[in-house]
Amino acid sequence: MSIVSSDISKAVRILSNGGVIGFPTETVYGLAANIYSEEAIQRIFEIKQRPACNPLIVHVHDPVQLSEIVTDLPDKAQALTSRFWPGPLTLILKKTDAVPAIVSGQRDTVAVRIPRHPIALELLRALEFPLAAPSANPFNRISPTSALHVENYFQDLIPMVLDGGECEKGIESTIVGFEGDEVLVYRLGSISLEQVEQEVGQVSLKNRQDSRPTAPGMFSKHYAPSTPLYLVADMETFAQDHPSARIAALRFSEPLNLKNVCHTEILSSGADLEEAATRLYGALHLLDSLDIDFILAERLPDKGLGRSMNDRLERAAKQSA
Ligand code: TXA
Ligand code: MG
Repeated sequence: MSIVSSDISKAVRILSNGGVIGFPTETVYGLAANIYSEEAIQRIFEIKQRPACNPLIVHVHDPVQLSEIVTDLPDKAQALTSRFWPGPLTLILKKTDAVPAIVSGQRDTVAVRIPRHPIALELLRALEFPLAAPSANPFNRISPTSALHVENYFQDLIPMVLDGGECEKGIESTIVGFEGDEVLVYRLGSISLEQVEQEVGQVSLKNRQDSRPTAPGMFSKHYAPSTPLYLVADMETFAQDHPSARIAALRFSEPLNLKNVCHTEILSSGADLEEAATRLYGALHLLDSLDIDFILAERLPDKGLGRSMNDRLERAAKQSA
């Protein structure tokens, strides 16, 4: 029997009893639990097979609930929340003592956001506690953008996925932190770097493991399909150099008509970066299910959400050229 359900009261019951469920947000589906239940949070790490040093994002529904978990909002954080919350922006802020160490990976900061999905907000309002939720995929796999993706990953491990349809944004939230007056972007996501800079001026991009070895958990290999993926500048030559391989292609807007390319996913025929972002993970899930030798992907235009998508493709790739 399917674990996908629209029953919010059932979700409330399970979460209030210390259970873990899949739930929708506007970015990707999350694997959610009560931040105050150590056992439930522990279970998230087990289900995802995620290293304990990689902290979780806390989801709240309003500023009052926010004040329960963070000590204060710097001015620039305030500017960003006024513009982007509810929405796909996660802030790293000083945490209160109420936030258990297991949620924050023993740090004195916590990652937090108010999501924009109506069902996520309805669920959060019905609960008496915030939800910690990483993306609902096994560690290092592609994030889920539909309830079915979550069910396929975890049907034997969780009792329920709350159905909220396809995610509107399709890639994870943008993660922003503060050091003194400096604004640091730890993860490129659904809000572009340009949009963040419009609000707070210039930011520093700290999204590579080598730029910050111990924190946060931006592992260089991430978001990977099980089929090998090659990110190449010249798809045509690469495909011609592998004449006997069965290849599937991931393209921005144009088809790739070659004999050994047996399937092509086009992200946006109108070359719209937002539409492409919405469809990226769905396309990767689909390509990963085909009987092929490898996926060939092309780099997207390096601006706006194109940068966030290139970041994910680079982490998914076996070889990048
Ligand atoms: O869109 C999203 O953000 C989704 C939905 C479900 O909200 N969640 C998500 O969570 O992508 P997750 O766990 O897959 O990614 C959380 C990232 C990790 O890279 C983690 O290292 C970082 O946030 N992070 C969490 N707490 C942090 C902290 N205190 N300091 C620095 N980085 C932190
Ligand atoms: Mg994730």
